[in-house]
This record gives sequence, structure tokens and C-alpha cells, in this order.
Amino acid sequence: MKKHFLSIIAALVPLCAVADDGMWLPNLISARIADMQAKGFRLSAEDIYSVNQASLKDAVVLFGRGCTGELISSEGLLITNHHCGYGQIQSHSSVEHDYLRDGFWAMTRAEELPCPGLSVSFLERMDDVSSQVLRGYEAGMGERQRDSVVRSNSARLIEEATADEKGLRASVEAMYYGNIYYIFIYREYTDIRLVGAPPSSIGKFGGDTDNWMWPRHTGDFSMFRVYAGEDNMPADYSPENRPYSPKRFFSISTKGVQEGDFTFIYGFPGSTREYIHSSEVEYISEVSDPARIDIRTRRLEIQKRHMAASQKVRIQYSAKCASVANAWKKWQGEVKGVRKMNTVQKKREYERAFELWAAGSRYEGVTERIAALERELRPYAFARDIYSETAYAVELPKKNLVLKDYDIDIDRESFVVEMEAFLRYVPEEMQPQWFRERLADFGSIEAWSEAMFRSVDEREMALEFAERMQEWYLSEIRPQIARLSSEMALEYRTYMRGQMEFEKDRDFFPDANLTLRVAYGRVCGYSPADGTWYKPVSTLMGVIEKDNPDIFDYNIPQTLRDIYARGGYEDTPVCFLANNHTTGGNSGSPVINADGELIGLNFDRVWEGTMSDIVFDPEVCRNISLDIRYALFVIREIGHAGHLIEEMDLR
Ligand code: ARG
Ligand code: GLU
Repeated sequence: MKKHFLSIIAALVPLCAVADDGMWLPNLISARIADMQAKGFRLSAEDIYSVNQASLKDAVVLFGRGCTGELISSEGLLITNHHCGYGQIQSHSSVEHDYLRDGFWAMTRAEELPCPGLSVSFLERMDDVSSQVLRGYEAGMGERQRDSVVRSNSARLIEEATADEKGLRASVEAMYYGNIYYIFIYREYTDIRLVGAPPSSIGKFGGDTDNWMWPRHTGDFSMFRVYAGEDNMPADYSPENRPYSPKRFFSISTKGVQEGDFTFIYGFPGSTREYIHSSEVEYISEVSDPARIDIRTRRLEIQKRHMAASQKVRIQYSAKCASVANAWKKWQGEVKGVRKMNTVQKKREYERAFELWAAGSRYEGVTERIAALERELRPYAFARDIYSETAYAVELPKKNLVLKDYDIDIDRESFVVEMEAFLRYVPEEMQPQWFRERLADFGSIEAWSEAMFRSVDEREMALEFAERMQEWYLSEIRPQIARLSSEMALEYRTYMRGQMEFEKDRDFFPDANLTLRVAYGRVCGYSPADGTWYKPVSTLMGVIEKDNPDIFDYNIPQTLRDIYARGGYEDTPVCFLANNHTTGGNSGSPVINADGELIGLNFDRVWEGTMSDIVFDPEVCRNISLDIRYALFVIREIGHAGHLIEEMDLR
């Protein structure tokens, strides 16, 4: 039966069934280039990454602290996601100019809006510096000593690398659990200006309802411009600055996207854990994720109830609610995916085979040592995870509490579900003494909450609460985590090396760590459930089908309805799916075709595939991209900003 089903899928999408997972280091892409070319790529490794000539890497940037962006004109024009530019768009918004709601389009360079605090970083080069980083390290040194060797050598390397030139920034990053170290040297530009953003009803269309889901119809893009000093080098904001002239920018393909097409993604994936021990996978999928989902379900129920009752509260909590809901929804997909893949069991079998192979070698026993450390670590890790979802989530004592975006009723009710969860999940003997005593005084969390949330002007009780809980975390929990993690780091370094020897023929990519990576695959649909097949492209017709003035997430601008009513826009492409291996941080990444042209912007994954941070299932792991042609359509038809398109190189 199963075979039969798979062969039907294979017949539908002959090219997608193969695993294309991996987030590869661009400077080593020559090792993958034959495979990429066999799958349709028509350029060379040097076109992707080169330190001798301009290459595609020169058109990709780390945008802000956790997104990717790319250059699309010779005059510094940059495109990234709407949700990556959201904070900037929000900070320029006011009641008179609500750019979040209405969108923003600079019609001249003079109208572009400076964004203090925002920076973009271009990778100048990356180099293996393992031997320099480990200079002075001797076998037999403890993990702490090793750490301090690594730290001081890294600091020196960074200083040397950035000494003489302006705007240079460097970091040394561990790959494969510290078996290898790389230095990354970036040039960081800080005069970045907002150029354009669609209304949220396009840029955030579908909101949290559609988040992590397919079919998707979100026009998730915004545009900025990088400015530079007279010498084209980074400079602080000045009206005298000029648009940055990039070494390389992306041409834009308007040819369209077909199932089976080769695609590749160039960006900054944040974090994956593909090589962890089964016990850690079990902790994540059976212990930590379920508890965090449970707590957030209760918090979201409260937020949503208050938001539905008041327009004011809806605005106040939309960003907070989105961020609580984002991880909440992702974890649910992750749990489901790990269980479906039977990853815990599969990893256990792998570990048994590994230990049989490792017997008598320097790798013998490493998986058992990791398991033992994980057992010891687990209660502390769980206490940390619960603390961060409960006591730490209470808003009233927060230093940076923004009263404008605060609702005391939500916080009061949330306190009850949060601290009741704390009571339930953290074993009594681990709970802070102070907490037990206060709870006994008040008699119940409810009563405590009534006393603590009388008014925003009386925060003493809340401040004491936050301080005492933090004190507990810092003295009882964190030091244990630090000690055990450090012991584990050593074992994982060994285990990682062991896995690479054990599976000699497998290509191991280093876990994501917010450094520049290449992922490649194909445009392809998937089957989310029995009897269902999702096509890989969505169109404007789907936007209109979802359109509903009564539902906030689906209420499109009237102009879009009017344009559609003119006829002929049904097939306007909006989003597409592919099986590129991506994660948080890849938002805004260029999605590139076989000729190196831009075809889209990555912005999400499908939630059935969110376990790809731990284990990749080629059948359902899909990244979701905005079709670049939808961005062009919105810029032209909604923004009437055709001058921006003139700047681009359309193919
Ligand atoms: N799920 C995407 C990501 O992980 C998009 C999040 C922003 N959108 C939202 N509706 N919350 O970042
Ligand atoms: N939306 C994510 C981000 O902001 C990308 C989605 C993912 O986790 O793959 O980076």
C-alpha cells in the first residue's frame, strides 16, 4: 500500500522524492557543484562564492540581527521580507502615517526614510582558522581551558582581521561542534533607508492563521536602500551619503516557476541540531515542546479573547501575539514531524550501530556518556524552559515595558496560567523557597495575581517577583546548565567526528549557526495528509478566494479587489513551494534559478516539515517563497512605484 502511494507521488513529481537536505558552506560549494549541475544549475562554484571576483555572495546580506536580504539594483536597492522590515515600518508609523496599515512607497530618494539602528552586513570572506584558533591547546586540557584558548585566539584573529578598514566586523564560529573554526569577515553598512512596503493586508496577508501553512498568499516583502560614503564604504547616516554601489546584484527572472525547476537559496539560517543524540530529540519532542505548547495555548487564549473584544488591545498585542503564536505553531509541527519520522527510535538504532562500530576505538562509549549527561541535564533544562515561558514572560516587571502596548488584564490573567504551569511542571523540590513561601502567604496564584496587578503604578511587588525568580534561575539553574553543557560540548565534538568517520560516504553539513549557507533543491508540491496533494504554486485567485472584509487576516485592500475585477489577473503568481532546507534566519533569502537569477524570496516553511531543524523528511519538508513577480505586481499596481522597477534588471 505504502509503496503504491509513494509511487503515485513519484509519478506526479518524479524529481522531488530525493532528499536534497543540507545547508552548505559557500566556500566549499565546489564539492557540491557537480550535484547541483546534475540537478539543473548552469553556473559554476566561482559564480556562487569567490574572493577574487564579484560573485553572488556579494549580493546577499545579513539583514538586521536575524534575517537575510539581497541587492537588486546597481544603486543599493535591497529586498527582504515584510516581517523582517516590520519593526522599521512600525517605527516610522504614526496615527497620521500608518505605514503598517497603508504601506509606504518613497517616490523619490529624498523620501526614503533613515532607519537608525538597522545595519546590513556583506560577507567579505570566510576562512578556516582552526589551527590558529586552537594554537596553545594541548590534549588533556579541560573543556574550560580549551574554551579560554579558543576565546583569546579568536579575539586576536578578529582584531587583526578588522584593524585597518572601516566598517569591518568579524566573528569566529565553531562548525561541527568545534571540530573546525571559521572566521567570517563582514563589511557592515549602517545608513539603511526604508524605500517601500506594501500594506500589511498584503505583506502580512493571512496573518497567524496562515503562518507556517500552505496554500499561502502572503506578499511578504519590503524594500530598503543601502547608503555609503563618498568612497562607497560604510558611513554613519548623513544626507550627503550616496546609494551604495554593490559589487554584484541580482537580476530578476520574470520567466516564471515550474514544478521540478532547480532552485537554490543563499542566506543566513540561524540554528539547526541535526546530529544530536536520541535522548535530546526525545527531550525536545516529548518533554519541552509539549509543555511549552500547553503554556502558550493558554496564554494565546487569553490574548485572543481580549484582542477580539477591543480594537485597541488588538493593535497593542498584535506583534506580541504574533511572536508567541509563531513558535507555538512551529513546535506543534515539529512534534508531529519527529513522531511521524520515528526519529527517537531511529536515532537509538543508529547509536547502537555506532557503538558496535566504535568498540575499542577512541569513540567507544561516547553516545552513552552523552545520554548520561543528558539525564543529568534534563531537569535543569526543563526548569529553564519553563521559567522562560512563565515567570520570565510576566510583563509588568519588565524594564522596557511599553505602556502604550500593555494591557494589565491580559497580564493578570496570564500570570495565573503561567505560574500555575510553573507549579505543575517544576518539581516542588526544585522550586524557589521564596516562591513556596509567598504562595503559602497568598493561598493561591489567583490571590497573588489580584494583589500584584492592582495598577501599573504599583510595580514594587511585580519587580520583587521578577528579581527573586531571576535570582533563583541564575543561582540554582543556570550554573548547572553551564557545567553540564560544557561537558557535553566535549562529548559532542567527539561524537560528531565519530559520526563523520562512521558514515564515510555521507556528506555532513555543519549545523546552521547564522553564517552564510547554500541550500538547493527543486520547486515541488507535497502531500500533507492522506488523499491530499498540494500544488507548488499559488495565485491571486487564491487571495480573492480568501478575501473577507470581516476577518482581519483576510481583509485585502479595496484597490486590490478593484484591480482583480478588471479581469485577467487570476493567474498572477503569489507564492511557491520548494524542498530547499531552510530555517529561521533564512527569511528574506534570495531564491535563485538555474541561471543565478532571482525568482523569489524565502519567508516560511510548511508546518508539517518544521522538524527539519532536527530531521529532514524529503516528502514533506518544504520552504515557502514569495514569487518575485508578485512583488513586481504589487510595486507597480498597488504602490505605483514603477520607478523602482526601472532600476532593476529584469530578465
Ligand atoms: N513563520 C515565519 C517565521 O518563522 C513568519 C513569521 C512572521 N509572520 C507571522 N504571521 N507571525 O519567521
Ligand atoms: N520565517 C522564518 C524567519 O523569519 C523562516 C521560516 C523558517 O523557520 O524556515 O526566518
